[in-house]
Amino acid sequence: MLHRSTVLIAKQYRAPSEPRKSHILVHVLNNHYFSAVANPPNQKNPGSDVFMKRALELASRSAGNASPNPMVGAVLVHNGRIIGEGFHKEHGLAHAEVNCLDNVSEADKQLIPESTMYVNLEPCAHHGKTPPCALRLVQEKVKEVIIANADPFEEVDGKGFEILKSHHIHTEQGIMEKEGLWLNRRFFCFHQSKRPYIVLKWAQTAEGYFAPLDRSRYQITSINSRQLLHKWRTEESAILVGYQTALNDNPELTARMYSGRQPLRIVFDRTLQLPLTHNVFNNAAPTWIVNDRLDKEEGNVRYVQILFNKNPLTQILEKLYESNKLSLIVEGGAVLLESFIREGLWDEARVFTGQASMTEGVHAPLLTGFKKAFESELGGDTLNVYVNKASKYKYITGMEL
Ligand SMILES: NC(=O)c1ccc[n+]([C@@H]2O[C@H](COP(=O)([O-])OP(=O)(O)OC[C@H]3O[C@@H](n4cnc5c(N)ncnc54)[C@H](OP(=O)(O)O)[C@@H]3O)[C@@H](O)[C@H]2O)c1
Repeated sequence: MLHRSTVLIAKQYRAPSEPRKSHILVHVLNNHYFSAVANPPNQKNPGSDVFMKRALELASRSAGNASPNPMVGAVLVHNGRIIGEGFHKEHGLAHAEVNCLDNVSEADKQLIPESTMYVNLEPCAHHGKTPPCALRLVQEKVKEVIIANADPFEEVDGKGFEILKSHHIHTEQGIMEKEGLWLNRRFFCFHQSKRPYIVLKWAQTAEGYFAPLDRSRYQITSINSRQLLHKWRTEESAILVGYQTALNDNPELTARMYSGRQPLRIVFDRTLQLPLTHNVFNNAAPTWIVNDRLDKEEGNVRYVQILFNKNPLTQILEKLYESNKLSLIVEGGAVLLESFIREGLWDEARVFTGQASMTEGVHAPLLTGFKKAFESELGGDTLNVYVNKASKYKYITGMEL
């Protein structure tokens, strides 16, 4: 089955020889998304799933831009009619609830005190870069606020509900909670597990090989899959590769085939052997060189010193947590990916199987303790997405990555 996000990529980036993907197909898949995430109707608040679904859809528009904030969407409804919508576009800009209220027309403003707001996350209660949203809802006298997820961020953590309740605004929480958890899994993992959400990514041949035996650079996937990877890079806070990959492949580790934020690049280089002429030292993105001898900053490059004989992965994850990085995508090589798998330090794995063929080579990592989320096809490659069985954030059929 084709997954929605992969179809969108296929539509955008089409090699000249490939047949054109149908726009209708995208529509079908859009509808599939909405029908697939439909829950049994909420008895207390009929129609609330439709409006929460819309709030989640609005929230998802800020993928890659909201971090370290969560993705939040809000819909204001009066007698079954949407009178306002908004989402948190970018870290530092107005929150979803404020944009939603600001978007209500002059004619409909008088209806706000008789309206219900659907918002996927508990309204904030603290002065961050913007004033507390809960106070704005009080000020506007919104009648009722329906919420998918409580906010685990310690400055909020129930305080948003308290403000609303103390001003007699009716609140209800838990509508489409699982969908909300999946959407904001990076944010929830960061605050609940105190580490970034970890995505493993690799490509393998049909025979299960990862690289040639001499560990030279070898292209396994199609250009469509590579563009999808660049999209993924814009959605994660940081990207990590092992020393051999940085040395042999000389990757740039940036999103060049998709517009968006550049993630922090991180490379293992224990004894600082990587030539300074290698691409990871260019100015295209902030970079950490993880080593055992130097702790200093030079332009966009930070040399991060750790103790290599004492849980190196945990030390890096701690440093990422301290730096407010919500997520990490690990892109190889096999030694590095296997160390994450061995320690159970992963949440999601995205594995491309390309059409390239090898009769011998380095074996692809062996994933254990997983549940398959879905399979899709892209440019002749197969993409399999797995979720760690132990993860609190379960994939919901039909939702996007
Ligand atoms: N198919 C794919 O998706 C894909 C993706 C990336 C790369 N590749 C290919 O994979 C090959 C390179 O992979 P590889 O497995 O040989 O090497 P690698 O994982 O890129 O690098 C291994 C080195 O990184 C450091 N390292 C890795 N994990 C570590 C950990 N947990 N703690 C501390 N240091 C760690 C170690 O360096 P020290 O020994 O110096 O301490 C280790 O020797 C290349 O051929 C590349 O083209 C394929």
